[in-house]
Amino acid sequence: AAVAVLFGGRSSEHSISSATAGGVLRAIDRERYRVIPIGITREGAYVLEDDEPDKFSLDPAHLPEVVDNGTRVIWPDSAASRELRVRDADGERSLGEVDVVFPILHGRFGEDGTIQGFLELLDLPYVGAGLLMSAIGMDKHTTKSVLKAAGVPVVPWVTVTRRDLARDRDLWLRRIRALDLPLFVKPARAGSSVGVSKVSDLGELDAALETAFAEDGTVLVEQAVVGREIECGVLAARDGGLPRVSVAGEIVLDGREFYDFEAKYLDVPGVALTCPADLGDGELAEMQRIAARAFEAIGGEGLARVDFFYTGTEFFVNELNTMPGFTPISMFPKCWIASGMTYPELITELIEIARA
Ligand code: DAL
Ligand code: MG
Repeated sequence: AAVAVLFGGRSSEHSISSATAGGVLRAIDRERYRVIPIGITREGAYVLEDDEPDKFSLDPAHLPEVVDNGTRVIWPDSAASRELRVRDADGERSLGEVDVVFPILHGRFGEDGTIQGFLELLDLPYVGAGLLMSAIGMDKHTTKSVLKAAGVPVVPWVTVTRRDLARDRDLWLRRIRALDLPLFVKPARAGSSVGVSKVSDLGELDAALETAFAEDGTVLVEQAVVGREIECGVLAARDGGLPRVSVAGEIVLDGREFYDFEAKYLDVPGVALTCPADLGDGELAEMQRIAARAFEAIGGEGLARVDFFYTGTEFFVNELNTMPGFTPISMFPKCWIASGMTYPELITELIEIARA
């Protein structure tokens, strides 16, 4: 089958997406799949990329980037066609028919339903969640509202927009101050901790709000949970079978304030991903039950990494990522590897459960 791997894109997680794609290009089963690597530049141009995984390694000193090489991938001009074409200096030629699109895109314009809607219009099968689930998962306010309505435990929070603050700043600051310190201030739609700050003293609140508003006009202020950070992977076939939940992984921070962008990707000391996490059988079963419930509450399709705060007695769902990072050292594949799958098998599985 021909798989178009899409990566990069117009989000603040452009480089992380490229690094995940590098891992996938390296490991995808070449006997089974013909790969068409399509990079999306930060400006949103679709370029035919070299099939060179090493070009997109997660090197902390040099985050990978899709560069405009002058080519343009041309999508089918009708939902009845699956033919991709490319235009370059020599003219235009066919790339053949594509069977599945694998949008390895994190953040806005990739993980938020937009590309999913585009692929639906073209009637091209794709890996991962559909339009609505992607849109819900991208927006932390909407995710938490949906989870809360479904009875999934979430941490108390206040959502505030730039407009709210402009209209009645005092009212909103009062609502925020009603939460217990420390707080996390986050853009509603971003990922990889871009724009996120921890506030331990209310004097830091204004600066934290500005940092978050630089990413998004809607911001969440959440009560921080004292406890462990536990994550797991979920996979679901498109036929509506029960979601499968992996074992738990844990992010162990030693002397770092929180699991920020640097800790996630830049190979700094003081952060370790442990999998499987040290949980009792009852604790693991409880986490898996809540993960499946949270996954189904937002749509139940494709894959997600469910992130928790665990107080020792209660699992709070922090968020769901419908296209989590999965370089071979990321938590999502680590959790599946610890559950008995290999990294290449996981990639095959994701492609085979693509939405048709
Ligand atoms: N948003 C990043 C890629 C993650 O959740 O892994
Ligand atoms: Mg995230």
